[in-house]
Amino acid sequence: MMTEDLTINVKMAEAYEKNTRISVPTYDSLFVMVQSYFRMQLGSKSASLLVIGAGGGSELAAWGPSNPGWTFTGVDPSEEMLKIARHKSAMLGLEDRVSFVQGTIDDLPESDSKFDAASCILVLHFIDDVQEKLKLLRSIKDKLKSGAPFVLVSAYGNLDDSEFQARLDVWKSFWIAGGREPSEVDDMINNNFKKLSLLPEQEIEGLLADSGFTRITRFYSTGIMAGWICHAK
Ligand SMILES: C[S@@+](CC[C@H](N)C(=O)[O-])C[C@H]1O[C@@H](n2cnc3c(N)ncnc32)[C@H](O)[C@@H]1O
Repeated sequence: MMTEDLTINVKMAEAYEKNTRISVPTYDSLFVMVQSYFRMQLGSKSASLLVIGAGGGSELAAWGPSNPGWTFTGVDPSEEMLKIARHKSAMLGLEDRVSFVQGTIDDLPESDSKFDAASCILVLHFIDDVQEKLKLLRSIKDKLKSGAPFVLVSAYGNLDDSEFQARLDVWKSFWIAGGREPSEVDDMINNNFKKLSLLPEQEIEGLLADSGFTRITRFYSTGIMAGWICHAK
């Protein structure tokens, strides 16, 4: 029998799954691309992955079943989002290879061993302050082995710039095609965008370089989002 908690959890998960794919129509392809790159870098040997913003469980579901040698440490401050990830992990039989930390990267237990790869997907724009973004990226770098690949995906741009406004219009069209009224989408923009902290592409690449990442390559762009692959020095 389904508990009330699990019902809420499943409903939340369904809403998250649907809305993320409207906002980012190439969402599933993104995970396929990252998997290809990680596989090429890590080979078929066992590898440890650090997933920052693991709530929702998308990384675990996309990469867990098809890569039996990979173990995952998922970090996320949101208990609700972690519940979804825990549920997915259990449904996919991944529990032996996944551990969760509710909190931020600062809450990871001290360890001598470093990770083979890391991801931070759709998280950075929720972190307000530039110094806090830098601190997070530096902490990720410190937890990685030298040469380890890191994937960052974030909304980006300068809100006052016409280039960003044009991309925002493209993003708006995704929601209208998904069944929302234009006025509803404008409300989402007016209410939600104020809460996001966006940086132009060059500044994001600058933060990655300042954090000790090298070979910084933009490999992905959809609407207001972009993704970079880089490597820990
Ligand atoms: C839009 S969701 C993205 C989740 C997942 N990475 C994906 O792509 O579907 C953003 C997640 O980042 C988490 N988050 C926010 N601040 C964070 C931080 N400082 N460290 C780790 N996760 C954070 C939120 O709780 C939320 O679960």
